[in-house]
Amino acid sequence: MLKAKKILLCVTGSIAAYKAVYLLRLLQRDGASVRIVMTKEATNFVSSLTFSTLSKERVLIDFTENDNWENHALLGRWADLILIAPASCNTIALMAHGICNNLLQAVYLSATCPVMLAPAMDEDMWKHPATQRNIQQLIHDGIKVLDVAEGELASGLFGKGRMIEPEEVFKEVIHFFSKKERFVGKKILVTAGPTVEPIDPVRFISNHSSGKMGVAIADAFVAEGGVVTLVHGPMTEKVEKGINEVSVQTAQEMYSSCLKELSTFDIIVMAAAVADYSPAEKSNEKIKKTQDFLRIDLKKTPDILAEAGKRKKENQILIGFALETENGVENALKKLDKKNADFIILNSLRDQGAGFGKDTNKISIFGKKGFRKDFPLKSKRELAYDILNLISQHP
Ligand code: PMT
Repeated sequence: MLKAKKILLCVTGSIAAYKAVYLLRLLQRDGASVRIVMTKEATNFVSSLTFSTLSKERVLIDFTENDNWENHALLGRWADLILIAPASCNTIALMAHGICNNLLQAVYLSATCPVMLAPAMDEDMWKHPATQRNIQQLIHDGIKVLDVAEGELASGLFGKGRMIEPEEVFKEVIHFFSKKERFVGKKILVTAGPTVEPIDPVRFISNHSSGKMGVAIADAFVAEGGVVTLVHGPMTEKVEKGINEVSVQTAQEMYSSCLKELSTFDIIVMAAAVADYSPAEKSNEKIKKTQDFLRIDLKKTPDILAEAGKRKKENQILIGFALETENGVENALKKLDKKNADFIILNSLRDQGAGFGKDTNKISIFGKKGFRKDFPLKSKRELAYDILNLISQHP
């Protein structure tokens, strides 16, 4: 499986460095070409001689050796995968903050290939909010962060933070190379679920969206190597690990979250059911039941899809949904044009099994120059792959 694959195994200062020796053997036995980068701290745990003997390659530790400069940029380009195992708490923090104070960091910052890391540290360090923030940042940056294991730690304490076993890291590497890679290196923004617009501290305006459609799309992208940010309203759907999840409440919050880094995304799919109107004023106290009729003024919310359409960059693919109850095709085509989308996916509440809350949906996709593709009723998960197929064929 790993024949002709080039892996740069980076070893950092952790007692788990000994596991990297066996990991190297596993990768080599499966046919991978492996080169090793170590931090100075890692050499306190395992000698570089062990790695150079087994890899039959010079181990790289410093920026210079015998007056020769190590070309970190080329190392990152040589590799099909950079695998940092074990990744110490310090290395994770440096990566998250883009600090370049050793060769490994320079390789990481100049790498053009995917990066995977297997953290290793004490439980308290692992659970510390600073570490968890750093991990979230790395996931956001598109790094595949592997789990940690529970058990005896170097401190003598028991808990979470051990590096997973070399066999498990190896399995992840195999999985990484065996999956379809259509969206590797692509940054994708997906919206999902409803928004809730507060009337007072007790009541709100919302809709029946469960988030299933958007989550199925986000999961499919991540399974195919994409770096996915999912901005969603309140929902109970579970989200695949590795997705950068941003949870919001209101349409205004969803708008702000989506627009923050909008220009950095290659693909944008807006499956959220965003409220079109929100109470013009939110009462700070619960509104009392004193009148027979209560009038609440609503104001238009910002249209996220339309704004994304206005700001659309040349190579960005923008996809919106249209949820209709009447004149579906006509309304979908209007949205395609008005919102400057590449595709609009129409689903209608008139179709049995389609729309909110269900595991199935029935969609038609409309695109430029009269493009139209109809799909039969299918699971939202299957449809997500139909949508990905369409995007991957988009010029
Ligand atoms: O979440 P589920 O239960 O699985 O249900 C899936 C779904 C029915 C919610 C989904 O398939 C769907 O149709 N989502 C879009 C719902 C919707 O709000 O449609 P719309 O026709 O009102 O909006 C058109 C497009 O503009 C949508 O892409 C919407 O995300 C976007 N929009 C709308 C209003 C707004 N203020 N900002 C927006 O970006």
